[in-house]
Amino acid sequence: MENDIKKILISENDIQNRVKKLADEINRDYKDKDLLLVCILKGSIMFMGDLMKYINIYAKVEFMSVSSYGNSTVSTGSVRILKDLDMSIENKEILIVEDIIDTGITLKYVCNYLKGKGANSVEIVTLLDKPSGRKVDIKSKYVGFEVGNEFVIGYGLDFAERYRNLPYIGVLNESMYK
Ligand code: PRP
Repeated sequence: MENDIKKILISENDIQNRVKKLADEINRDYKDKDLLLVCILKGSIMFMGDLMKYINIYAKVEFMSVSSYGNSTVSTGSVRILKDLDMSIENKEILIVEDIIDTGITLKYVCNYLKGKGANSVEIVTLLDKPSGRKVDIKSKYVGFEVGNEFVIGYGLDFAERYRNLPYIGVLNESMYK
C-alpha cells in the first residue's frame, strides 16, 4: 500500500498537534452548551475519534452517512443520506465533524438538512479545506489545514474505499487512478 503514495502531505504528528488545537477552541467555545458532534461517515472516522478524545466538555455524538462521490474522484453533485441521525436535534448546538470540504455540496446539503430539523446552531469543523474546489458557498467555523488541488487520501479519506487506514494525509501516485 505504501508504494502507491507519491508523498506525505501532512504527517501523523502534525495532524495530532492540530487536532488538539481545534479541540482546545471547541472546549472554550462550547463550554456550558448542549454540544452534539455529528460525524459524517466514512471519511471522518479517524478525525472524529481523535478530536473527541481531546474534547473535555459534555458532548454527545451522532453519525450520519452521506455520499456524493461513490467510487469516482469527482463529486457527482447529488447527495444521498445513507444513514440518518438517531436522536432528536431540536435546540442542540450541532458541530458537524468532516474530513474535507471540496465542492462544498455535501456540507451545504447536510447543514440545510440539520437546520431544518430545529437545531439551535449548526457549525462545521473540518480537518481539510480545499478552497480551489468550491462550487457552493459554505463556511467552516474550524479548519485544520488548507490543501491545494490534489486528490488526498489517508486518515479516513479513501480512493475506491482504500487507504482510509493510513495515519497521515498523502497524495496518490497518478498511475493509481489514471
Ligand atoms: C467525501 C468527504 C466529504 C465530501 C466532501 O465524502 O468525506 O463528505 O466528500 O466533498 P464535497 O465538498 O465536494 O461535497 P464521500 O462522498 O467520498 O464519502 P466517504 O466519506 O464515505 O468517503
